[in-house]
Amino acid sequence: MKVTRLFSTIILTVLVLGMLSACGDAASPTAAPAAATNPPATTASASGATGAKTYKDLTLCFPQLGAESDWRTANTASMKETASTLGIKQLVFSDAQQKQENQISAMRACIQQGVNVIALPPVVEDGWDAVLTEAKNANIPVIVVDRSVSADKSLYAAHIGSDMVLEGERAAAEFNKQLPNGGAILELSGTTGSGAAVGRAKGLRNKLNSNIKILDSQTGNFTRAEAVPVMQAFLKKYKPGTDFQGIFMHNDDMGIGAIEALKGAGVKPGDLKIVSVDGTRGGFQAMVDGWFQADVECNPLLGPQVFDMALKLMNGQQIDKEVLTNETVYYPDKAKELLPTRKY
Ligand code: AHR
Repeated sequence: MKVTRLFSTIILTVLVLGMLSACGDAASPTAAPAAATNPPATTASASGATGAKTYKDLTLCFPQLGAESDWRTANTASMKETASTLGIKQLVFSDAQQKQENQISAMRACIQQGVNVIALPPVVEDGWDAVLTEAKNANIPVIVVDRSVSADKSLYAAHIGSDMVLEGERAAAEFNKQLPNGGAILELSGTTGSGAAVGRAKGLRNKLNSNIKILDSQTGNFTRAEAVPVMQAFLKKYKPGTDFQGIFMHNDDMGIGAIEALKGAGVKPGDLKIVSVDGTRGGFQAMVDGWFQADVECNPLLGPQVFDMALKLMNGQQIDKEVLTNETVYYPDKAKELLPTRKY
């Protein structure tokens, strides 16, 4: 009886050990695919640390909105130069000639191509929901660059650019200083519906003293060529110095176009208080020549920040949702000295 019980115990032990060993064999193969489908989290590294994506892996789509101003030319150059310095795999560049439909088509082509990141400088604020949703569904992060969009924040990764409302508020502060006893100003506005024009117009109205009236506001679409006839039409309607004492230019290019019209009408530098936005070389020259009393900075050199964020997005790193450029206001007293140092 004792022998039979000992024999049964031995048989049971052998069976249990066999089962345990079989379980171990079955578990091993499932571990490898799990590790393969879920690679360890990587960190952004320009030097190519193990597992991290580098700039050499990055294809970035940049559907530039146009070439309407010196600011825009500098912005394009900053993106192209940074792409080349960092040695990214490919920069997919296009020029939408200030047409939203061209930007949307370019974005769709980039989604089709399977780029890693899209950097979108939106010509206007509205109308981006559909294409941003398409990019999101394709897992392509979009960085909104320069101007803002009105779309829900969940549809894009981040925004890098200027605080356009603050720029308008800074311009208002200059008019408040220049016209302490009040007066009237004209506004030469940027592209209708663009984040830059909407923000600057809002900022101006936020902070302009109540004794300064905005006599009229018309768009010059951010270009020199379009600003000339707009200023000429203003000058037919209103007498400079009598009906209005100042002009707010939403950008330097329009300011330079408007100066041509003012010269043609016999207006001299200093007759009017003119405040502009951008801080381009042309704007600095207008200050040196006595036309602009202040130039509110809007910095176009966004390339380094955009590519840094693009790489972080590629590597699944945390990024800031809103990155605002640190800017200032320039004045005629330093314009001559600073002009040769200006990069745009
Ligand atoms: O969005 C930035 C604005 O666009 C700049 O002020 C202007 O010069 C450009 O065209």
